[in-house]
Amino acid sequence: MKTAITEMFGIRHPIVQGGMHYVGFAELAAAVSHVGGLGIITGLTQKTPELLAKEIARCRAMTDQPFAVNLTFLPTFSSPPYPEYVAVIIEGGVKIVETAGRSPEPYLPALKAAGIKVIHKCTSVRHSLKAERIGCDAVSVDGFECGGHPGEDDIPNMILLLRAADELKIPFLASGGMADARSLVASLAMGAAGMNLGTRFIATKEAPVHENVKKALVAASELDTRLVMRPLRNTERVLKNAGVERLLEIEREKGASLDITDILDQVAGIYPKVMIDGDMDAGAWSCGMVAGLIHDIPTVKELIDRIMADAEQLIRNRLIGLLGHDQMPASEAA
Ligand SMILES: Cc1cc2nc3c(=O)[nH]c(=O)nc-3n(C[C@H](O)[C@H](O)[C@H](O)COP(=O)(O)O)c2cc1C
Repeated sequence: MKTAITEMFGIRHPIVQGGMHYVGFAELAAAVSHVGGLGIITGLTQKTPELLAKEIARCRAMTDQPFAVNLTFLPTFSSPPYPEYVAVIIEGGVKIVETAGRSPEPYLPALKAAGIKVIHKCTSVRHSLKAERIGCDAVSVDGFECGGHPGEDDIPNMILLLRAADELKIPFLASGGMADARSLVASLAMGAAGMNLGTRFIATKEAPVHENVKKALVAASELDTRLVMRPLRNTERVLKNAGVERLLEIEREKGASLDITDILDQVAGIYPKVMIDGDMDAGAWSCGMVAGLIHDIPTVKELIDRIMADAEQLIRNRLIGLLGHDQMPASEAA
C-alpha cells in the first residue's frame, strides 16, 4: 500500500509502532521495521545518551530498514539532557524522529540540518497545526482513547481525525485505539495516511516485556483503563490494578490540593517493575482502551501481515462491493 507516510519514510506498510517507555527497545523496533512498518526506539528509556547510541547500533544490526527514535518532552522526575540525546540520534544516522509532549521547536533546526524527518505526536488540532507551522513533516493525532497521555481535551478519534483532516496540509497518522485492518481502513477513510499503534504492539511475541503484561492485555476489556493525574493536568490512561486503585483513592482524598509527591509510590519507577518483573499491581503504566480488541499474542510479522491482508480484503470486497449495485448496468441492476 502506498500513502504519503510510506513514501515519506520509505516503508512498505502505513503502520507505525509508537514510542513506548520500557517497551520500545531495539528488539521490537527492529521487528516492526524489518517487516515493512516503522519501528520506534524510545529514547528516554535509555538512561543516558551513550546508552541510546548503543541501542541505535543494536537496532541497526538487527535490520537494514528505516527505524525511528522517540523523544518525549513530558514532566519527568529527572531532567534529561535533550541536546545530547539529539546529538546521538544524529550521529547514529537515524533519519526519523518521533517527538511528543512539548513542542520540538528548539531541536528542529539541528534535526532538519541532519536531514531528519520529524513526526510530532499531538492530542489536539491546535497543537497539530502548530507542529505543521514550525516545520514538522508529519503528525500523529492521538485521540482520547489512546494509551499514555491523551491531553486534557478528551476528543475521541471519530471527531479528532476528521478535524485534523479538515485543517492539516501535512500527512498525519491516526493514533489511539488502533487494533486491526478495520482501524487502518477507517483511518484512511478519515483522511489519515496510516496508523500508529502502541498498546497492540505490546501483545506481540517480540515485545521485550514480561509475559504477565501480554497476558494482562489479552485478559483486559475496553472497560479496564483508568485516567490518572487529571488534577495535575498530566492525564495518563493506564491499566487498572491495585496500585492504580490506591492512586485514585489518594486523588479523591486530596482533591484539588493533590501534589505529585502524594502519588510518587504509584507513578515513579513503575515501568521496570511492570515490564521487567511482571508485577501487575505495581502502579500506573500506560494502556489504551484498545486492550478490549486484543485477543492474541502474534509475532509482529503475523500481526502486520494480517492487518495488510485483511485491509485489502476489506477494501476490495466489502467497500467496493457496497458500490456493486451502482456499477452494474441499469438493465442488470433492475
Ligand atoms: C506502555 C506505553 C508506554 C508509552 N510510552 C510513551 C512514551 O514514552 N512516549 C510517547 O511519546 N508515547 C508513549 N506512549 C504512547 C504511544 O506511543 C501511542 O501514542 C499510544 O499508545 C497510542 O494509543 P494506543 O495504545 O491506543 O495504540 C506509550 C504507550 C504505552 C501503551
